[in-house]
Amino acid sequence: MSVGKDKSVKPGAMRLALLIGSTREGRFADKVVRWAKDGIGRHPAFDLDVIDPRGFALPAHFPSGVHEGLEKIQRRLELADAILVVTPEYNHSFPAALKQVIDVTGEAWQAKPAAFISYGGVSGGLRAVEQLRLVLAELHTVTLRKVVSFMNAWELFDEQEGLLEPLRAERSLKQQLDQLSWWARVLRLGRAQWPYLSVS
Ligand SMILES: Cc1cc2nc3c(=O)[nH]c(=O)nc-3n(C[C@H](O)[C@H](O)[C@H](O)COP(=O)(O)O)c2cc1C
Repeated sequence: MSVGKDKSVKPGAMRLALLIGSTREGRFADKVVRWAKDGIGRHPAFDLDVIDPRGFALPAHFPSGVHEGLEKIQRRLELADAILVVTPEYNHSFPAALKQVIDVTGEAWQAKPAAFISYGGVSGGLRAVEQLRLVLAELHTVTLRKVVSFMNAWELFDEQEGLLEPLRAERSLKQQLDQLSWWARVLRLGRAQWPYLSVS
């Protein structure tokens, strides 16, 4: 499902970067991402590029110069027409590793749409999403109203079977991707016609 840098597996498709928010050992994120990949695979609008920050040896400190891994993430985000963040909730917010990626790759988010799939306990990760909206507003990102959220996520997914009752979430993801593709198309045209840098 994931595409290489320039390959398109669906005719006319735009590029969707799915950014994994958790780098935690034993993370739950992989179950949610596996489910999301299936749904995105069925959607005609997007080719998928899964960006897992774990694979880029994130630095312990905020780099003062070039960091190879973060530069690679930046390039992948730059190529994206839309970004889908899959995030858990940590202490009513989102993981520090995700903040590090966002802080260093800021320009790649400019005048692009971003959507969220969240998971956690009783709040379903929605407090992490609200915090992300504040941060991404600073980067001139258009965040979608619609969130796909999993409350008490560990009760909803099975190791082998995946999401146990998928219908409602699949419908929700489809609607989110429809809306994301609308914004992605409009903003891609907009960026090409009127470079956003001239007003940012
Ligand atoms: C440091 C930490 C803080 C957490 N804080 C919250 C919280 O505020 N609200 C919540 O619903 N769940 C909270 N959780 C539970 C996580 O949402 C849950 O463990 C989730 O599976 C974490 O995602 P991950 O396994 O992909 O890293 C917290 C988990 C951790 C590790």
